[in-house]
Amino acid sequence: MEHRFSDLIILLASGINQRRLYFDDHPKVQAFSRDFVIQLRDLLAGDEGDAFSFGVYKGKFVRNGKYLVGPSIAGRSLISFAEHLGCGGFSFTLPLEPRHIVTFFRLAATLKGPLPGLDAAHRLFQDEGIAHIGLANPFIEGKGGRLEEGEGRSSELGSDPVLASDDFSSLMGIYQALYEIVARNNASTAQGGAVDIADARSSGEKLVNATGNGVMDVMQFIRYPDYDSYTIGHSVRVGALAVVVGRRLGLAPEVISDLATAGLLHDLGKGRIPENILFKPDKLDSEERKIMQSHPVLGAEILLASGEASEIMVSAAWGHHIRYDGRGYPAMPPWHKPGFAAAIIHVCDVFEALTATRPYKKPMPPLQAYEIMFRDRAAFDPRPLAALVQALGLYPPGSEVVLHDGRRAVVTHAGNDLNNPVIRTTHDPLGEPLDAGADEIIDLGRPDSPQIADILLIGDGRPAVTT
Ligand SMILES: [Fe+2]
Repeated sequence: MEHRFSDLIILLASGINQRRLYFDDHPKVQAFSRDFVIQLRDLLAGDEGDAFSFGVYKGKFVRNGKYLVGPSIAGRSLISFAEHLGCGGFSFTLPLEPRHIVTFFRLAATLKGPLPGLDAAHRLFQDEGIAHIGLANPFIEGKGGRLEEGEGRSSELGSDPVLASDDFSSLMGIYQALYEIVARNNASTAQGGAVDIADARSSGEKLVNATGNGVMDVMQFIRYPDYDSYTIGHSVRVGALAVVVGRRLGLAPEVISDLATAGLLHDLGKGRIPENILFKPDKLDSEERKIMQSHPVLGAEILLASGEASEIMVSAAWGHHIRYDGRGYPAMPPWHKPGFAAAIIHVCDVFEALTATRPYKKPMPPLQAYEIMFRDRAAFDPRPLAALVQALGLYPPGSEVVLHDGRRAVVTHAGNDLNNPVIRTTHDPLGEPLDAGADEIIDLGRPDSPQIADILLIGDGRPAVTT
């Protein structure tokens, strides 16, 4: 059920983004508003009560006392709207009509700066004829970090709105900013507009800073599924991995920063691939595959046309599907070797694709991903491939493992050797979660420490975070 709430919130945010590009009567804006109403009716026809409500708190969505991580990443436009209105959430009731939602999209897309208070927001909604959309009072923080509804608050945000601690919080703002920029770039290039390289560069730098504390941060990027149609999350994670590989290879800081931006923009050409091919659920036929495989060249053309993209960015976009043995696409003469930046992005691109969650697949444990990549090692430049494995280790931070004594643990550091990371125990041998304070940090490199018996999927068993 939770993912249906998430889908509805993302639908709202996507509608706002469409309205930023188009106008009220545009078929895309109309379609999003209709879709939302249909799905809302569907949801409320079940036993969910008579309102669909969610809160906004500190730049994130919250429902029933939990952060909604996926929607918070993808829904920055809706969060900003709530912040400008000065409200702590929204509540949608029937009989809501698509025209109300279209007006909601328009206000969200055009409202500049915060209103003086929630009263002004209520008046604005009234003046615009918006009905059946309630604005909740902001949350206030009570004793012990408990969130309480502000005075006069009427929406139903859960009976126990205590937010679980969430180690992703510190990265959320950066992820949202990066998400916005790649989405905006994709949307504008899809219409033939120019890509904003300066904006992308500043996101690239933020990404470098975000991965400043080591690989742990990067693996946190990897845990969260994509909520976009242009694999934006994928681009962010490829950029983050490229930073880690670049550092391991000892590259200069300005090159690493360029690599981060190159990772963000490497799939930009997909914005020009027709949607019926890009999102086709079935196998592509040979003609469609040819069109799909034109995205590296299209991406490089967009970047070249900007006049501001660096050589590293253009080369990575153009060559990130060219294998080290010269196969792949675009087709090249056999003597051709892809550029070093392209080789780095290629390694990161494949590793990310294997280990990420997708709507149609579960994430693969990193060990299995390494295995697949090493079996096909002719495909990869050995230098970035080795750097990736060395930087992430065999048990990358964020991986969940089972120890020989049956306890479960999460890897916190790669450790001094690849086989023996530092871990924090999370479950006792009977599978019961450990109480706060009962967990233990263990360096598996120490002689008498337990051994890893099995590796679980990254992102498994994280009940505090709902996607
Ligand atoms: Fe690609």
